[in-house]
Amino acid sequence: MTTTRTSAPPKQTVTAYDLLGGEAGLRKLVEAFYRTMVVSPEVAGIRAMHGSDLGPITEMLYEWLSGWLGGPPLYVQRKGGPCLVGSHQPYAIGEAERDQWLWCMARALDELNIEPRLRSAIDPVFARLADMVRNR
Ligand code: HEM
Repeated sequence: MTTTRTSAPPKQTVTAYDLLGGEAGLRKLVEAFYRTMVVSPEVAGIRAMHGSDLGPITEMLYEWLSGWLGGPPLYVQRKGGPCLVGSHQPYAIGEAERDQWLWCMARALDELNIEPRLRSAIDPVFARLADMVRNR
């Protein structure tokens, strides 16, 4: 008599990175984020804290979020660590700056048209993260 062994298929984990559209979705998000920062007088305060060329920071935010959302850990691979608190230390970030940052992120997420359930899960996580880098 022969027996047929069946093995369970490998477990697939769907990450927030996947749900946001992987690399293409995340690139769209960070581009929309900094575009919003450039064109919105409401956030002139935080725009002035950034360098004139937003290309490098767009790439860094993309790389950082990639790992944080469960995709490739590009920022850690490049920099050796994900510490955000330290890299924001030179900038005076209070509640106003934190809220301007979150306002840009909310506008950028609006452009992505993501599922409402994912959106309501991700908003408070960004809010906590942005509050973590507040140093005033
Ligand atoms: C969810 C929260 C945040 C994330 C994920 C984030 C991410 C990053 C990353 C990855 C960098 C590059 C760090 C490096 O040099 O390696 C950076 C730089 C920076 N961030 Fe944030 N950030 C956050 C919140 C904020 C907030 C609230 C402000 C308020 C103004 C801010 C202002 C800046 C500035 C001014 C720089 C330097 C930009 C430059 O070099 O031109 N960030 N951020």
